[in-house]
Amino acid sequence: MKEIYLDNNATTRVADEVIEAMLPYYRTLYGNPSSMHTFGGQVHRKIEEARQEVAQLINAEPEEIIFTSCGTESDNTALMSAIETNPQKKHIITTKVEHRCVNNVCQ
Ligand SMILES: Cc1ncc(COP(=O)(O)O)c(C=O)c1O
Repeated sequence: MKEIYLDNNATTRVADEVIEAMLPYYRTLYGNPSSMHTFGGQVHRKIEEARQEVAQLINAEPEEIIFTSCGTESDNTALMSAIETNPQKKHIITTKVEHRCVNNVCQ
């Protein structure tokens, strides 16, 4: 029986070109971009380049681009930003089928 993977919504195969683009960051550019040392500075500059490229792609300003590390952080950042920038708004409409991290913030 041939098995097929139908859970790409949860995790998916990384595209070859993404693996290729990421290899330098596994092999040589692995410094912490928040650190003051040279290794970190190199990575920090690469992240800022990426921020500029993403901003250009969607016609935004680089400072409007926020990189997050996971789905939970992304959801929380979006929701908390919306709440903080719109304090006059008192309701969020959501559904029971949202991810737990969305419903937790909404509650
Ligand atoms: C909408 C949504 N938010 C958050 C998450 C959790 O993602 P992570 O484990 O990367 O925090 C998922 C995971 O499936 C998700 O579908």
